[in-house]
Amino acid sequence: MSETILVTGGAGYIGSHTTLALLEAGYEVVVLDNLCNSSPESLQRVARICGKQAEFIQGDIRDRVLLDELFASKNISAVLHFAGLKAVGESVAKPLSYYENNVAGSVTLCQAMAHAGVYRLVFSSSATVYGEPTQMPIREDFPTGIPTNPYGRSKLMVEELLQDLARSEPRWSIALLRYFNPVGAHTSGLIGEDPNGIPNNLLPYISQVAIGKLKQLSVFGNDYATVDGTGVRDYIHVQDLADGHLKALQTIAGDSGVKIWNLGTGQGYSVLQMVQAFEKASGQPVPYQLVPRRPGDIAECWADPAKAAAELGWKATRGLEEMMSDTWRWQSANPQGYAH
Ligand code: NAD
Ligand code: WQD
Repeated sequence: MSETILVTGGAGYIGSHTTLALLEAGYEVVVLDNLCNSSPESLQRVARICGKQAEFIQGDIRDRVLLDELFASKNISAVLHFAGLKAVGESVAKPLSYYENNVAGSVTLCQAMAHAGVYRLVFSSSATVYGEPTQMPIREDFPTGIPTNPYGRSKLMVEELLQDLARSEPRWSIALLRYFNPVGAHTSGLIGEDPNGIPNNLLPYISQVAIGKLKQLSVFGNDYATVDGTGVRDYIHVQDLADGHLKALQTIAGDSGVKIWNLGTGQGYSVLQMVQAFEKASGQPVPYQLVPRRPGDIAECWADPAKAAAELGWKATRGLEEMMSDTWRWQSANPQGYAH
C-alpha cells in the first residue's frame, strides 16, 4: 500500500507543485489549506495534469480539533509543512499574524503529530535564516543570522523549536529545507504562482510587466558590489524544489533528529540579468527604472548545493531559460491567475 502524506499549504505555489510530484510518484496526498493565499483551482489543475486527485480539506493548522480528527481518520505517515504567511513587508505591519500562523501554527501541528504518533516532518524554511552572510556560497553549517523582519524571524523560530523538539524525543525525524528563490511554473502552464495584488517578488513582478498588467519594474538599487550593481540571488525552478522535497521525505524515513539542506542551484543572477533573460524568453519588453535600495535587502545570496547533492542525491536540473519560459507560459495562459 502506498504511503499517505499530509501537505499543509498544499493549494499554494510550492505546495501545489509538490503535491503533483507526490501524486506522480505514487503517494496518496491529503492537503490541508485554509485558502488564505490560494485557490482550490490549483488542485483541480494538479488533477488534470496527472489524472490523480489529492484529498482536499479546507482548514487551518491552528485548529487542533480539526488536526486530531484528521490524523485519527487518515493513515498519515509524514507531513510536508508549507502552510504559513510569507510576505516580508506585511510581516512588518502585522507581526502577530506572522507569529500566530507561522510559529503558533507549527506548534499546534507538531502537538497534533506527536499525539497521533506521526514524527516525520519536512519544514519549508528559507535562506533568510542566514541573515547577511559574509561569504558566498552559503553552506548549511554557516551560523544562522539575524533576520531583518518578523517573517524571517518566524522561520528561524520554527527551525529552533523543531531542533528542541527533536532533542526532546528521538522519534522525531525532521528536515529543514532552506529554499533560495523559488521561481517558475509547471511546464504544462496549468499551475504556477498566483500572487494576491501587486507582487512583492521579482519574477512575478517582471512577468506582470511583460503581460501589461504593471507599467514598469522598479529595480531596487544599482550600487551593490555585484556584477552590474543590482542584487544577486539564487533562483530555483519550483519543479526542482518539489523534487527536492520528495528526496528529503524519503531520506529522513526511519531516521532520527534534524537534517538541514539548502535547496538552491549554486548559481546567482542579478536583477538585470533576470530582466534580460525574461525579455528573451517572452519576446516582450520589460521596461524598468532604477530606484534606491529596498530596506532589508542584501547584495547577494546563493547556495552551496553540495550537501543536498551528496545526501539527498538531488540537484537542480532546470536552468534560467526554462525558469523564464515556464513562468511566461503560465503567465500568458493565465493572465488573471486562477481567477479565470
Ligand atoms: P503560498 O502562500 O503560495 O502557500 C502557502 C499556503 O499556505 C497557501 O495556500 C495558504 O492559503 C496556506 N496557509 C497559510 N496559512 C495557513 C494556515 N494557518 N492554515 C492552513 N493553511 C494556511 O506560499 P509558497 O510560496 O508556496 O510558500 C510555501 C512555504 O514556503 C511557506 O511556508 C513559505 O514561507 C516558504 N518559503 C517560500 C519562499 C518563496 O519565495 N515562495 C521562499 C522560502 C520559503
Ligand atoms: C529578489 C531581487 C530585490 C522586486 C524574498 C524573501 C525571502 C524569500 C524569497 C520567503 C532582490 C530585487 C525585487 C522588485 C527588484 N521568501 N527586486 N524589484 O528579497 O531575495 O527574498 O523572497 O521565504 O525570505 O526575503 O526576493 O524576489 O523580493 O527579490 O529590484 O520589484 O530582486 O531587490 O535583489 P528576496 P525578491
